[in-house]
Order: sequence, then structure tokens, then C-alpha cells
Amino acid sequence: AFTPRVFSGIKPSGGLTLGNYLGAIKRWVDMQGPDFETIYCVVDLHAITVWQDPADLKRSTHEVAAALLASGIDPEKSVLFNQSQVPGHAELGWLFNCVARVGWMNRMTQFKDKAGKNTEKVSLGLYAYPSLMAADILLYHATHVPVGEDQKQHVELTRDIAAKFNHDYGVEFFPVTTPVIEGPAMRVMNLRDGSKKMSKSGESDMERINMLDDADTIAKKFKKARTDPEGLPSDVAGLKDRPEARNLVDIYAGLADTTAEAVLGDFGGAGWGTFKPALAELAVEKLAPISDEMKRLLDAPDEIDALLAKGAEKAEAIAEPILERTFEIMGF
Ligand code: ADP
Ligand code: NA
Repeated sequence: AFTPRVFSGIKPSGGLTLGNYLGAIKRWVDMQGPDFETIYCVVDLHAITVWQDPADLKRSTHEVAAALLASGIDPEKSVLFNQSQVPGHAELGWLFNCVARVGWMNRMTQFKDKAGKNTEKVSLGLYAYPSLMAADILLYHATHVPVGEDQKQHVELTRDIAAKFNHDYGVEFFPVTTPVIEGPAMRVMNLRDGSKKMSKSGESDMERINMLDDADTIAKKFKKARTDPEGLPSDVAGLKDRPEARNLVDIYAGLADTTAEAVLGDFGGAGWGTFKPALAELAVEKLAPISDEMKRLLDAPDEIDALLAKGAEKAEAIAEPILERTFEIMGF
């Protein structure tokens, strides 16, 4: 039996969005407590799969750590650290490159989305990244991984790698990890194009809500969010084939810790002119205290670094025996 242990990570690759908050951070905070050991990581080795200006990488690393702390990740309750400070991630990542099959990687839809037609010019790291992600998770024998919907396929690959390793070496060494994808806002969409997910790296700032946006900006972005001409339906069946409407209702539900049904119970029949300002107000109410605290923390990057260094020591203590045993099993 494996200790119930949660691992999850966020890339420091630009400003954090409401998608990161609702799909990941908020739920990481909720999972702290007696049921799980919780390990949360700023995954900087993943960020460099696409070009990162060195100064921006450092600044984004601090921003992600600050966002986690400001949102309620408690370094006394959780292990919070930066991936590159624990060398075992890269080491196990290499071992898993030799377990994962090229055919499996070829099926990763996120790679296809990110690389587009330009597969000759993207980094080898972008292609191999799900295998490093498997290493991140399995280096701690994590049993549960809370992620947004976009990461489901990568957690399934992690399960495949664990199962193949266990099978090939005749051991029951790595757990078969469960993705935890629960809640109303596990796939927050772009505010201008409801067919794309909201992302740090989208083209226009108007398509996403950033965790550091001020109240006026948040109100303006929701006001300009694309919607259809109909107002809000009285139940979720009325959101069918209306991705933009569905998205705004899901965001409201995620922020309010409720369900889309309950939101429509309150707002069914209203127009967007009523709903959008209410949504903006709720988002500001939830995000402003977090962004204020983030800004305070970002003024003291040395304190963030000190916290991350302590977290890395704790992470290392869990990872080291697991990595050592992995090498042994493989015959090193
Ligand atoms: P991004 O895709 O913004 O670069 P990451 O790849 O670092 O973010 O993902 C960090 C976490 O945030 C993952 O658990 C991912 O599933 C979640 N996430 C990212 N974007 C969204 C979104 N639009 N909706 C829900 N969750 C998201
Ligand atoms: Na992502």
C-alpha cells in the first residue's frame, strides 16, 4: 500500500491565469489536510521546453511560488519547492525516457497543439515533456494528481509508464496514479475564442484573466468576453452547444464553490448585462486579496527563495530513497 500522496506542478512560463487558479491552485489548497501528504512544485524544467528569457524565468518562478503561498498553500502543511533544485526529477526523467515508447508520445494531443505543423523546429524537450512529468509524480510515489482537464492524457501516460516499469522489472514499485479532475471549472476557456483553453501563452491579453489583473481590467475583460445573443438559461441543458455561455457559468461556479446548476438557479433568465458585472465582482472579491498578497511577497524574492530551498530539502528526503531503489531495480 502506498501512502496517500498528492503531487502537482505549475510551469513558470508567464503570468498565471484564472484557468491555473480554478483548475489547479484552488484545488491544491483544498487537498491540504489529514487525508494526503501534499507536494507542490514550480516546474521550471518544463518551462524551458519553449524559450524562456533567463530573467523572466526567475521572475515567473517567484510569481508562481507567490501565487501558491498567497492562495493558501501552507509550507508547514505542504512541501513547496522548485523542480530544478531536486536533481532526481531530471534523473528519473531520463530513466523514463527509456521506458516510454515513441508511439505513446506520438499520441499526446498537447504536443500536437503546441507544436502545430512545425514539429521539426520545436525542442526535443517539448516532445519528451510528459515523460519528465511522469518522473515528477513517481519520484514521490504520488497516488493522486490534481490537474485541469488538459493534463488528463499526461497523467494517463504516467500510469502507463508505471505499469510498464513494474511489468518489465517484475516489481510492484511504482503506484498507478489517479488523476483528480473534479469541479465545475476544470477546463476554463479563452474569453475571446470558446474553442481554446485559457492559457498563459495565448496571443491576446484580453482572452485571459491574469491572477495579477486589477479590478478594472477584470471587469473590462469579462464585459468584452464573447457571448451569444441569448441570455442565461434556467438549467444546464440550456448551455448545450453554447461554449462561451457555458464557460462563464462554469467560471462563476468555480469561484463561488458551487455548481453550474446552482448558478443558473440564481441567474437563469438574466441577460449578460446582469451576469457579467456579477461575475466580475465575484472574481475581484476572490482574486484581489490573493494578488495583493502576491505583490507583497514578490517584493521579497529572497524570502521566497529561502522557503523554496527548505521545501527542496523536504522533497529530496522523500525522493532520494525512491530514486536509489529505482536505480537498483534497473541493475545500476
Ligand atoms: P498553462 O497551460 O497555463 O501553461 P501549466 O501547463 O503550467 O499551465 O498548468 C498548470 C496547471 O493548471 C495544470 O494542472 C493545468 O491542468 C491547469 N490549467 C492550465 N490551464 C487551465 C485551464 N484553462 N483550465 C483549467 N485548468 C488549467
Ligand atoms: Na497546461
